[in-house]
Amino acid sequence: MHKEMKTGFIGGGNMAEAIIKGLLAGGVPAANLTVSEPSEQRRGHLSERYGIRTISDNGELCRQSDLVILAVKPQVFSQALKDVQGSNQLYISIMAGVKCAAIEEVLGAEARVVRVMPNTPALVLEGATAIARGTRATDDDLSITRRIFDLVGTSCVVEEKLLDAVTGVSGSGPAYVLTFIEALSDAGVKHGLTRDVATALAAQTVYGTAKLLLETREHPAVLKSQVASPGGTTIAAMHQLDRDGFRAATINAVDVCVARSMELGKK
Ligand SMILES: NC(=O)c1ccc[n+]([C@@H]2O[C@H](COP(=O)([O-])OP(=O)(O)OC[C@H]3O[C@@H](n4cnc5c(N)ncnc54)[C@H](OP(=O)(O)O)[C@@H]3O)[C@@H](O)[C@H]2O)c1
Repeated sequence: MHKEMKTGFIGGGNMAEAIIKGLLAGGVPAANLTVSEPSEQRRGHLSERYGIRTISDNGELCRQSDLVILAVKPQVFSQALKDVQGSNQLYISIMAGVKCAAIEEVLGAEARVVRVMPNTPALVLEGATAIARGTRATDDDLSITRRIFDLVGTSCVVEEKLLDAVTGVSGSGPAYVLTFIEALSDAGVKHGLTRDVATALAAQTVYGTAKLLLETREHPAVLKSQVASPGGTTIAAMHQLDRDGFRAATINAVDVCVARSMELGKK
């Protein structure tokens, strides 16, 4: 994005705050960011902590912005956009399950819409975001969107029909990873470690292993075989994970998540 672009947020909740942090850390001046938000308490929090402008009129916000990030819950989006006409601005929606076509219908024929699926690690600038283009969004709109979400982690572009798969892998993924960390920590406690030590070791192991994989760009199986020495402890544990259906359980969980995402998208 261009740092001088006037960026507005409709909805100033958790995800909006994560993106605001990323934009400010990336050098976007606070004076170019405005949030429209009904809660006076949230408006106070955002303006005090980040020095950005806050208002309570979504129509006014859009008139003043080059770029509008739709960050309200999916169930309130038509209500939130009722006074808004989308002729000149780029609209980036982070709302789970709301299709570009539905947003274009509410904003009118001219609206340029891009839809993204971020995840909660964006709160610590380590999010994984997939981006899909609406009917009238341009290549430039896609690069602006990527630049924004690269400030809160990494991003990729997919076809809109693949956003359900993205929800299954990275949108809901933090919950699976946290369940794994919790189970690993439980196992450490079972074998005598304190909870704090076990959780710290488990979390850092996930974080460090992910970093190793991303930095080496190796296939996971290559790095895994480097840990598992012949006749050793790791290969014994891997055998038990396979016996207990660890991989199948993961794939089955993503299957039901994708199916649920498709079902919610039809409503
Ligand atoms: N959290 C995630 O992991 C995640 C991941 C991917 C996508 N998303 C999507 O991100 C969006 C925001 O999620 P979130 O976790 O940030 O939710 P959130 O914390 O509830 O934020 C939504 C904010 O929008 C405000 N709002 C409600 N009605 C409004 C209106 N008419 N006009 C302007 N603002 C309004 C809410 O204010 P009140 O509290 O006063 O109602 C709230 O502050 C959702 O659509 C979600 O699907 C979230």
